[in-house]
Amino acid sequence: MSEINYDYINTFIRDMIPEKEGILGEIEREAMVSDLPIIQKEVASLISVLLSIKKPKKILEIGTAVGYSSILMSNYLQPQGEIITIERYDIMQRAAKENFKKANLENIITMIEKDAEEVLPTLEGPFDVIFMDAAKGQYNTFLPHCIRLLKDDGLLIADNVLHKGMIARSRYDVPRRQRTIHKRMRNFLWEIMHNPQLDSCILPMGDGVALCHKKIRKEENND
Ligand SMILES: C[S@@+](CC[C@H](N)C(=O)[O-])C[C@H]1O[C@@H](n2cnc3c(N)ncnc32)[C@H](O)[C@@H]1O
Repeated sequence: MSEINYDYINTFIRDMIPEKEGILGEIEREAMVSDLPIIQKEVASLISVLLSIKKPKKILEIGTAVGYSSILMSNYLQPQGEIITIERYDIMQRAAKENFKKANLENIITMIEKDAEEVLPTLEGPFDVIFMDAAKGQYNTFLPHCIRLLKDDGLLIADNVLHKGMIARSRYDVPRRQRTIHKRMRNFLWEIMHNPQLDSCILPMGDGVALCHKKIRKEENND
């Protein structure tokens, strides 16, 4: 059970969101039956609105799973835009490849089949949008790379940052086995809220979503 929002509010919001058509609808239905890890419906709506405004040309995603969010985000790319998405788990990689093929997006979405911790230091940006949706314990490690890879005026979206509300609880109220993740995620949230390069907010929706805008650097005045 999530402590982030009342169940009746979540249900109300989700019921308002129209069913997706085509491959996205197919994956959503499959996810219900097989418990596939895909973003929650309200987070999909948030991403759709943000990307409609941002109009990205280059997107980086960390955590492809079966490709649902990559396919969703591809709908908001500028012409000749591209998505690079990273996935380390072979079963997910196979399912994602199949879905990208079905959606005819193989030329637009490139999946890197490795651990993001290994891949991120080797990537070159800049990206207009980065969507972080992988192992929560690694967000802290990913963050400096994401800031480096993000364009000025770019947007970082991180999902699952409240982990069913557990992150907002006192560490003494959290089972011992979850204290490491609790500490790491709190450090991540502190960093995004205090990093001078970012304007950030934490939204209590879905499993908790963090939004970070990379500030536009002011020209240095040498007079
Ligand atoms: C919540 S799912 C992603 C869901 C996907 N973004 C969507 O909404 O369609 C998280 C995925 O991240 C992958 N993952 C977790 N940590 C990773 C890492 N360090 N590098 C690459 N993939 C990772 C997992 O294998 C899993 O498939």
